[in-house]
Amino acid sequence: MMPRAGDQGVARERWLGTGILGLFLLPVSLSLEVSVGKATDLYAVNGTEILLPCTFSSCFGFHDLGFWWSYNSSDTFKILISGTVKTEKADPKVHLKIDDRISLEGSTKEKMNNLSILLKDLDFSDTGKYTCHVKNPKEKDLQHQATVFLHVVDKLEEVDNTVTLIILAVVGGVIGLLIFILLVKKLITFILKKTQEQKKECLVSSSGNDNTENGLPGSKAEEKPPTKV
Ligand SMILES: *[C@@H]1O[C@H](CO)[C@@H](O)[C@H](O)[C@H]1NC(C)=O
Ligand SMILES: *[C@@H]1O[C@H](CO)[C@@H](O)[C@H](O)[C@H]1NC(C)=O
Ligand SMILES: *[C@@H]1O[C@H](CO)[C@@H](O)[C@H](O)[C@H]1NC(C)=O
Repeated sequence: MMPRAGDQGVARERWLGTGILGLFLLPVSLSLEVSVGKATDLYAVNGTEILLPCTFSSCFGFHDLGFWWSYNSSDTFKILISGTVKTEKADPKVHLKIDDRISLEGSTKEKMNNLSILLKDLDFSDTGKYTCHVKNPKEKDLQHQATVFLHVVDKLEEVDNTVTLIILAVVGGVIGLLIFILLVKKLITFILKKTQEQKKECLVSSSGNDNTENGLPGSKAEEKPPTKV
């Protein structure tokens, strides 16, 4: 069946639509992005220290980039540290810092774009939401942020892996059993085939009526009607 011209037109329009949509989405997905890593919750023991990670990426590059970390719990909101990064070849400059227990650890040189902070001498009252904000004047002051929740605890819970281990063992066992069954099946089929082949060979050699050996070469091909072009 020939596709009608109309169908092709619709298909092309649809394709064109997707292409144009992609063009619109492109600048958005490539613009400033801020990340605090994969974990949304961090746990730390009181009295110890923790690194709150923050990295950003910007395909347009930046200068005079603004950044700040904010803290938010049920009853408090405060800016912990803020500063700027002059160019892509400079390290961040801190303008404000409310606590000596906080230090900026990251570097913005060599495309590291790292604005992580270290929190020292943790207290239970440090529990809360920590948000890393980045603002890029080069991108119409687009502001982006990422948040991590810090829990300060008196001791870290041992991660109980028993259930996971049991599940893994069961899954592994089932897979092992399946492979075993498949292997046994293959082996049985193989043996059956071998015995059948042996029988066949016996038949062939005893009858001596094989086409390829006794018939005229090429006679078989001529039986087929010539194929039309
Ligand atoms: C953490 O808090 C517990 C309970 O208040 C306390 O006993 C312990 O000494 C603290 N640990 C540190 C390292 O400050
Ligand atoms: C702080 O967090 C609370 C609870 O999640 C939220 O309702 C509030 O808007 C936040 N405040 C700021 C200034 O982000
Ligand atoms: C950011 O910098 C800190 C301190 O140098 C480092 O520990 C951390 O691994 C860096 N993070 C990334 C994603 O490079």
